[in-house]
Formats: sequence, C-alpha cells, structure tokens
Amino acid sequence: MISNARLFVFISLLGISSAGNIKVSRHDVRKFPDSFVFGAATASYQIEGGWDEDGKSENIWDRLTHTEPCSIADCSNGDIADDSYHLYKRDVEMMRELGLDFYRFSLSWSRILPTSFPDKVNEAGIQYYNNLIDEMLKYNIEPMITLYHWDLPQKLQEMGGWSNPYIVDWFADYARIAFENFGDRVKYWITMNEPREVCYQGYGTVTKAPRLNIQGIAEYMCAKNLLMAHAKAYHIYNEEYRQSQNGVIGITLSAHWYYPETDADIEAAAEVIEFEWGQYAHPIFSEAGDFPPVMREKIAAKSAEQGFPRSRLPEFTPEEIDYVRGSSDFFGLNHYSTYIVYRNQSLNNYHNVPSYYDDMNAAPYQSSEWEHGASSFLKVVPDGFYRLLTDIREKYNNPPVYITENGYSTYGGLIDDDRIAYYRKYLSAMLDAMDEGSDVRGYAAWSIMDNFEWMQGYTERFGLYEVDYESPERTRTPRKSAFVYKQILRTRELDMHYEPDTNVMTIDEGK
Ligand code: NOJ
Repeated sequence: MISNARLFVFISLLGISSAGNIKVSRHDVRKFPDSFVFGAATASYQIEGGWDEDGKSENIWDRLTHTEPCSIADCSNGDIADDSYHLYKRDVEMMRELGLDFYRFSLSWSRILPTSFPDKVNEAGIQYYNNLIDEMLKYNIEPMITLYHWDLPQKLQEMGGWSNPYIVDWFADYARIAFENFGDRVKYWITMNEPREVCYQGYGTVTKAPRLNIQGIAEYMCAKNLLMAHAKAYHIYNEEYRQSQNGVIGITLSAHWYYPETDADIEAAAEVIEFEWGQYAHPIFSEAGDFPPVMREKIAAKSAEQGFPRSRLPEFTPEEIDYVRGSSDFFGLNHYSTYIVYRNQSLNNYHNVPSYYDDMNAAPYQSSEWEHGASSFLKVVPDGFYRLLTDIREKYNNPPVYITENGYSTYGGLIDDDRIAYYRKYLSAMLDAMDEGSDVRGYAAWSIMDNFEWMQGYTERFGLYEVDYESPERTRTPRKSAFVYKQILRTRELDMHYEPDTNVMTIDEGK
C-alpha cells in the first residue's frame, strides 16, 4: 500500500496537480514579500586558498587533503581553491552583478587564531576579513558570518576536537574575538554550519574530516559539546554585544525531508526526523529542550542491551537544558533533498555493534526514479522542502527561518537549465509554505561560485558562476542560472519561464 505522502510526491513529480490532469500553471509568476532578502553562500576552506599564507596555521582539511590526497575524489585540495584570499574584490563584484542583499561566508579559525587560542590574534587574518566586509558594505551588501564551517584547527583536533568538552570554551573564546573585531559591521551571525555533518560524518563515519569512524559514540559526544559551544557563543553575544552591536545570532542545521515508504512506516519516518535534525533542533527550538525523547529512549535501551553501564548519548543536566533552549534568534536551514524511510525485521541484525542507524532502527533511501543532480544525495523533490518548512513551523512555534543554503550540482558547463529548474521548483515550494504562514525571511543560494566540494573535490559544481581551475586567475564566468537568479532578485518575482536574452553580465546602478 502506498501512503498519501508517497502518492502526493509521485503526482507532483509527474507535473500533475492533485485536482486533476492539468499542468501546474496557477503560479507562473509569484511575488516575494518586500522585506524578503536574497543572498548566496560560501565557506572559508571551500573558496579561500592561501592555506598557509600570512600566518594561517593548519586545519583538519589541510591535514586530511595533504596526508591522504586521494581520499578526495579528484585527489585535490583547498590549498588555492577559488583563491578568494586574493580575489575577494572580484567576489564582491559578482555579488553586485547578481544584486545580492546579503552574502554568507565563514571565518577560518586557524587564519584568525593560528595557535587555536586567543593568546595570539593574527592581524593579517583580521585584515583579510575586514577588507572583505568593508568592500561588501561599500555596496550595501550585508555580511552574514558563519563562525564554524568545518575547518577546525588541527591542534584542537589532536586534543579531541568536538569530542572534548573543553571545546565549549575554545569556541567561545574564538567567537568573542570575532564579535569584538567584526561585530560593529556584521549584524547576522551563525555559530555552526550543519552540526549533523560535523558530528555524524566526521566522528561517526569517514565521509568528512577528521574521519574518526567511531559510530554510535563519538558522534553523540560531539553533538552535546557542539550544542553547548553554540549556546555559549549565543549567550556571550546576547549578554555582552547585542546591545551595542544590535545584530542577530543563530545556528544553521541541515535537514532533509523523510517520507514514509508505506503507512506502516509513518512512525519510523517521524523518528528518523528526530534523529537526523531533531537531534539539534529539539534542544534549541522546542519548548521542552534536550535531545528528542525518542533518541534518549532508544539509545539508552540499546546501550543497556549492548552492555554499556550508561547511555552512549550524553545527558544534559537541567541547567544545561535551559542554557541551550532558546539559544537562537532564527532557524538557519540548509536544505537540498528528500528521502524515503522504511523499517522492517531485516534491520535488526546489528544489535551488538553500536551505530547510529542501528540506534534509530530505520533505513532512509532515495528513489532511483527521482530526477537528480551530480551529487549522489541530490534528488529533486521540491514537495519535501514544503513539508519540511511546514513541519518546522508546526513543531517549533513558527520561528524566523533563513534558508542559508539550497542549490544544485552539475559536472560543469555554462548552460545549466537543470539548476535553473531546481531553483525555480524549490523557491516555489518555499513560497507555498510561506503562503501558509511559514516565517521565512531570506534565502541564500549555494553557491555563488564553484568551490571545493569536500570529499568530491572539484568534481561536483554548485556555482552560479563557473570557476576555471586551470587558469591561474581562477576565472569566474556567470552561468545561465546567474542571469535567472539576478532577474529574480531584480524583480522580486519568481517567473517560471523567464529566458535571459544576454550572456553579458553588468552591474545595475543603485545596488
Ligand atoms: C552543505 C555544506 O554546508 C556545504 O559546505 C556544501 O558544499 C553543500 N552542502 C553542498 O554539498
């Protein structure tokens, strides 16, 4: 039996409205609210290069790519990447070409604090970010800073990284340096990018640095410490800087949507949601705080069966629950795709080995029939975005949401109609949720330009601008999607059929 959810998705994928056999035409041109802001996003290791320049020290991605180069799909690294360390003025020029309201980028901790600690602040690192921020502000482009986008100083990793509870203080010290130096001009702060990817992929598996592969244990230690570090940075901003600097601070979570495979899997899909992004959203955005009850119960029960004297999921004390709850002014959301979930007897075989998926006892997968991008995870299911935004609204009392990433990968090329189609469908799904009351305030495309896509190196391209990695200048050329995105920003309208009549990029006056 197929559930309503599945039926709906198949129907929408066929382009048939649920009312009958008609192509969706109701929303050919849709308006964004006047106050809505548009941007684009990047992250330090993925674009900056200058990996050992002007006093920057080694981070975990430098270490991984230098010691195990071919763990990366094309054996590449971020030593030069897009060379934004030198080409930031061109980056700002692209922001102006597109007409961005804001630009989301991250700070490199080891560029600012080469010893990892605030005993020595690297003036050249501070200067680089000052230059970038000032160049953006010259043209009214609002900076949105992510403090941590995956490039932990290597030395901190050697001391356990996110599995060491002292990281709460290390991160707080670093955050304070950032508020102190940039907070006079930066009004949007994001503490962490995608905790799930940091902890599950980096500590539980081998799919991100530091590739610890300590399933069902290290990833949960990481989760608690990361949430506490986030909350500490939030409280520092709130208590020491908010009044004088007048900005907002939040966290960015990655969240997929999960359909049940059949009606019998509805509970399983809801539980996967709690494990996957509820793990980070529940402690911060729910009224009760703490890890989701289903995680606490399941992991405690499995741990006992496996002979552990206590749950592998660390506990929060009542004071810690209060400290983390409410510690975000907005819900930063990175969303790309959707999965289907099933649960059956075949999943009961791994009981003796601690693992995240064994703890949740459910299996997410994607349909091979879904349209897809170059990245294995990137299936095109816009209805999932609508459902996700609806769920966030309903579960967490309609928090302000910024879409801090959404985008589509190809293998390169300037005519990227698939990317354009993806953006249109996902923006339209977002507007559907907003029509029903979701408080979405802004949207950032991932990414303004191609960049180092972690384990996939430069093989998967997410850019509105193509980057030529063969040229020493790392030449950036607008793709067709850049012209379409620009038109959306200029008109504040989503026109499903607009065709750019030029491939020459210009800067509109007044921006
Ligand atoms: C999420 C991450 O934040 C970003 O670094 C990555 O490149 C994109 N997803 C695309 O995979």
